[in-house]
Amino acid sequence: MKSTTQFQNHTISSEATEGTPQSDDHRMQPERRRVLRMASAALLSAPALIGIARAQGGGAMSMTMKGMSSERGTSGMPPRTAAAFRRALAIPPKLTGELDNGVRRYSLRAQSGVSTLVDGASTPTWGYNGAMLGPVLSIPRGQPVHITVGNALAQSLTTHWHGAIVPGDADGGPHSPIQPGSTLDYRFTLDQPGATLWYHPHTEYRTGAQAYAGLAGMLLVDDGIDRKLGLPHTWGVDDIPVVVQDRRIAANGQLLYMTETMRDLMGMKGDRFLVNGREQPYVEVPAQRVRLRLLNGSNARSYNFALDDGRPFNVVASDSGLLARPAVARALLLGPGERAEIVVDLSRDQGRALTLQSRSGEVAHLLGSSPDDSDQWDLRTFDLLKLLVARPTGAPASLPATLADIEALPLTDAPVRRITLQGMSSGAMMPMHDGVDRGAAPNSGPGGMSLGIAGQKLFSMNHRFFDMRIVDQHVLLGSVEIWEFSNNREMAHPLHIHGVAFHVVSRNGNPPPEWERGWKDTVLVRRGETVRVGMRFTRPADAAHPYMFHCHILEHEGNGMMGQFTVG
Ligand code: C2O
Ligand code: CU
Ligand code: CU
Repeated sequence: MKSTTQFQNHTISSEATEGTPQSDDHRMQPERRRVLRMASAALLSAPALIGIARAQGGGAMSMTMKGMSSERGTSGMPPRTAAAFRRALAIPPKLTGELDNGVRRYSLRAQSGVSTLVDGASTPTWGYNGAMLGPVLSIPRGQPVHITVGNALAQSLTTHWHGAIVPGDADGGPHSPIQPGSTLDYRFTLDQPGATLWYHPHTEYRTGAQAYAGLAGMLLVDDGIDRKLGLPHTWGVDDIPVVVQDRRIAANGQLLYMTETMRDLMGMKGDRFLVNGREQPYVEVPAQRVRLRLLNGSNARSYNFALDDGRPFNVVASDSGLLARPAVARALLLGPGERAEIVVDLSRDQGRALTLQSRSGEVAHLLGSSPDDSDQWDLRTFDLLKLLVARPTGAPASLPATLADIEALPLTDAPVRRITLQGMSSGAMMPMHDGVDRGAAPNSGPGGMSLGIAGQKLFSMNHRFFDMRIVDQHVLLGSVEIWEFSNNREMAHPLHIHGVAFHVVSRNGNPPPEWERGWKDTVLVRRGETVRVGMRFTRPADAAHPYMFHCHILEHEGNGMMGQFTVG
């Protein structure tokens, strides 16, 4: 089948080969096959810089489909192990802002550039203040900040402060676009515990493509408590940012986005694993306690973080701040958008090397049950970052038994909002087959640039697709509520709520694991699971700038699985 989509002077041609032995197609249920065939008629648009594989001979699509089951993945690049751990981890600079009349000023500019993501290849990428990713914004708690975000790209974008509890009009959601060549000023004061947050675009229909091109960075709320506690806090020495992302890269170095229609519609996953924008790097760390700030900045892939020798580590913080006490774990599953800070004791490891891995195969059954929900990497263990343990610094950090006082929310009488998740998944994937008629997605974007299929979006909540003109929920300012996400389908969805930090109250009625008992803003709702979160809404958001709640698989977010709410 052949399809052509027009976007910004680029013609995207794709040709899916029927009956290719290694293709996914024949493993799918008939309904799903039919839907996915429709899908290539509305192939996703991507930023102009992202190379959508051009037809080469028999067509890029058939080429990538043939490669799907091979070790080399789909990119035509050399096997990834060949280049592993050759380059040092990039440590992004930490900006503390310029003090100006009691206000801290920061500035970011989205721009294009060229990066070496994988050894030996030049890749056109986008970044903030550079070619890829962005600086780490360190923002002191309680101090007014003023962030100017400029847009030097040829398309509009927004920039959202993920996890920051700021009013809706400073939240950077899809209602706050920054046009090419212009800037937008954000003014807010963070009054929330020290935490590892992040920022990324939140542009209608384009969040996935823009983040994939490289636009993302960490944002730290600094309340000084980690230093007081003696936790590792020397940036780039024993306090290491670890932004994990997967990408698919063509032989000529170009990023490939949504080039395998079948599986990519479930969420864009790549076969090259980057940490801070470099493939499988190494970092030298001292033989003492080391803190890794893990951010799953991938569009769609979950990681089950572990060390290769299986040693236990201490989780000290979840998305939105320190835990009450360190939680011991040997593996930690983080969905897209989630963060955790872990402390690894390396005091007896001088001269040794350890590898941070994802033991994905051990959790694959929690995330999906269909072969299309998991690719080959989701079914195995793979490497992310090598830790080379060198001499201690002479300023070893400690790990106190108590870290924070976590406020207990008055949840007993709290009202419950119920949100059901409808994901496209085997046997139950199409909203049009679930007996609810909601018509075609009305807002498929200029030129039909929706991620949706033939005008029909694929992922919904409460059987509704995201519509920027419709506010889905109204919340009272200051109220405490429970939101219940039920996922009776086959695929896991990381749910994120703007403007709040929440407690995970229960998973299928059971208390969450220790490491999930702190403040969070994103929670992985696994297949067949009902997860309750409780929170207090402390900042206002009006209908002109409502907050979003959505799945953080960015292709689901862009494909309908998002809602908006006001607080007032
Ligand atoms: Cu990380 Cu609504 O986003
Ligand atoms: Cu957010
Ligand atoms: Cu999802």
